[in-house]
Amino acid sequence: MAATTAVTYYVLGSADELARAMAEEILEVAQAAAATRGIARIAVSGGSTPKRTFELLASEEKFSLFPWEKVELFWVDERCVPPDNADSNYRMTREALLERVPLAADRVFRIEGELEPEQAAARYESAIRNRFRLEGAELPTFDLIALGMGADGHTASLFPHTEALHELVRIAVANQVPQQKQSWRVTLTSPVINQGRKVIFLIGGADKAHVLSEVLSEKYDPEVWPSQLIRPKGGQLLFLLDRGAAAELPPPDSTGRGHLEIQR
Ligand code: 6PG
Repeated sequence: MAATTAVTYYVLGSADELARAMAEEILEVAQAAAATRGIARIAVSGGSTPKRTFELLASEEKFSLFPWEKVELFWVDERCVPPDNADSNYRMTREALLERVPLAADRVFRIEGELEPEQAAARYESAIRNRFRLEGAELPTFDLIALGMGADGHTASLFPHTEALHELVRIAVANQVPQQKQSWRVTLTSPVINQGRKVIFLIGGADKAHVLSEVLSEKYDPEVWPSQLIRPKGGQLLFLLDRGAAAELPPPDSTGRGHLEIQR
């Protein structure tokens, strides 16, 4: 029986407005999770788009109430490179955020990209299992999973026609991505992403417009459009977009909000 995913998208006027909207979403989730469960577990993506959001979280007065003492930070994926490499998602996050906010080192759970990929994935999975005190085949429930999307429709390091698309049991896996410069990646798997309490796609740029409309409207084929794998259990999926990325979607209402129902 096809499941319905309610997709809400907000179209922001500029890259800066987009970054700010995401920073506000992260603050809201962190404060709510800290108030409700005493801890906010957040998994962030790499690439270029999140950098401005991280800088705002670290610099703007508005975000000075961020409950860093109640936050644990994880990564959705990593390129298999050392942490000081220019392609490291950890490095990008460290420079834009971690070096500028009071998040204790023992609350930062990075993927050890410098290790052999399978070993890095296994260590990351066990770090998550320990921290979430998981048993058996239990999966972690992150309070927020922040995703991006590539112009090829990939998200996390779930790339078209790659092994990790088919992983349904493990929490994190190594994934060989011949089409990418950094061909080995470690990524959270789609069952874990879909277990997230809140899942947000942050997507900017006209180069993503066509593939985004395909991901949302084409027939279900995650081998071609891996972002289609993302159908959160709670049935809610949020997209924060700039005008360029939203160009091929139905126009939003006067508040910039758009809505789609996806049956898959
Ligand atoms: C990575 C990311 C990846 C990213 C997309 C979008 O390691 O590359 O986690 O999934 O979100 O590639 O990247 P941009 O934000 O650079 O467009």
